[in-house]
Amino acid sequence: MSSNVLVVDFGAQYAQLIARRVREAHVYSEIVQSSITAEQVRAKSPAAIILSGGPKSVYEVPAPSLDPAIYELGIPILGICYGAQLMAQQLGGEVARTGAGEYGRTKLTRQGPSALMDEWPTTSAVWMSHGDAIAAAPDGFVVTASSPEAPVAAMEDAARRLYAVQFHPEVAHSERGQELLSNFLHHVSGIPATWTNTSIIEDQVAAIRAQVGEEKVLCALSGGVDSAVAAALVTKAVGTQLTCVFVDTGLMRKNEGEQIEETFTRQFGVELIHVKAQDRFFDALAGVIDPERKRKIIGELFIREFESVARDLGKGGDGPRFLVQGTLYPDVIESGSGHAANIKSHHNVGGLPEDLSFDLVEPLRSLFKDEVRHVGEELGLPAEIVWRQPFPGPGLGVRIVGEVTRERAEILRNADHVVVDEIKKAGLYRELWQSFAVLPAVRTVGVMGDGRTYAYPIIIRAVTSDDAMTADWARLPHDVIESIANRLIREVEGVNRVALDVTSKPPGTIEWE
Ligand code: XMP
Repeated sequence: MSSNVLVVDFGAQYAQLIARRVREAHVYSEIVQSSITAEQVRAKSPAAIILSGGPKSVYEVPAPSLDPAIYELGIPILGICYGAQLMAQQLGGEVARTGAGEYGRTKLTRQGPSALMDEWPTTSAVWMSHGDAIAAAPDGFVVTASSPEAPVAAMEDAARRLYAVQFHPEVAHSERGQELLSNFLHHVSGIPATWTNTSIIEDQVAAIRAQVGEEKVLCALSGGVDSAVAAALVTKAVGTQLTCVFVDTGLMRKNEGEQIEETFTRQFGVELIHVKAQDRFFDALAGVIDPERKRKIIGELFIREFESVARDLGKGGDGPRFLVQGTLYPDVIESGSGHAANIKSHHNVGGLPEDLSFDLVEPLRSLFKDEVRHVGEELGLPAEIVWRQPFPGPGLGVRIVGEVTRERAEILRNADHVVVDEIKKAGLYRELWQSFAVLPAVRTVGVMGDGRTYAYPIIIRAVTSDDAMTADWARLPHDVIESIANRLIREVEGVNRVALDVTSKPPGTIEWE
């Protein structure tokens, strides 16, 4: 038996959150499709299985189901919401529309002993989201809790180690949800709490060593968290075989190049090739105003720069055979294929020519973003890199509306620095998904001192979001907006006005281009 938990996915958002909560209980978890068969489960030999919630009703056709032979494997199973109803229905219980359903905070009342809710008080607040409910538990099960609209809000068959809860223990609004998951994992299933940042690092270091042997490895650093943590892991594993490449496009944030050099060259002692390609990028972008054209030019040029470094290193025949990629677990599951071959942006250095084929090293493939940040901290990366907000592949290029020139990039870089600095001072940086400056393609009239000015406005863009698919504009405190605006006008040459973007996504996008 492994100490791996399978989270069966009946609706993606729910499954990811459960998988993360399991990992917070220091147990490795992996998301699998609901079409998995008992045979496939047996082959993975998990220590426990969790059935996720999902948006469907068990009576809808088609509604996702589960191979019933999985219940017979003797592996402890916890069904959550849809997973609970499915378990009830498949094992001979009854699921029905019992009432109005329950949405949001709901009072749960316990009944009798339960290994899952061992220390819970008689009543507690849990988070529900269901229309149907389990009306009758299957034979062999005892009901361990109820709520106003769910007569069977929790049930268990301790002999068969099958457990089900109608509520969502994985959401923070369920008061003791994490405790319930821990009980299921550690007490019911007997899984030790061994998945820690240290164990992740040790496992990955061993895996990287085994994969690359004595070969050389190449890594493109973008200034983002993922490539930095991936590079730091590879450094720990096979530091002397690693060469990092940082291509300065001229569209990076202030001090980004220096910081990468400081961290990787001086602190980690890695060979770093710092390609100063600003001139080539600005030349290629001269006169271009179409956003898609800009993206394409930046992406292609980036690959060309990277390719030329790789070819130079390969002269003489013993060049790098491996390429590090910062692919994360959500990319792997979303692609569905089990391999994140769909390389989206130039940061992943996709689109390299065939004759430059590398084997990929992807040490973050099994990790969620928050785990990546913690691993980064443990590896000694500076907080400035580890806690950085996302930054688009094409860099400041998609925040400069109109022509991208050296001068305009410099104005935006300085403005961006002021925005981020003030947001950090206000203690809001980690709370916001992104906060940055945008430079539009217009100039406006102003008056400063005794003179008339004709200069650029800066737009403040700050958003909250969970996954960048949707976002809301951040309600920044007025005094923070005021200090950003004052500093922008005082300190950034070329700026005489400040505006605030109050557009959510949809209808807007986070970036302006
Ligand atoms: P939008 O502007 O589409 O952005 O709302 C969603 C998120 O993606 C980031 N973004 C990019 N990231 N390469 C990247 O690596 C890109 O070309 C790119 N374009 C947008 C953006 O910063 C936001 O977090």
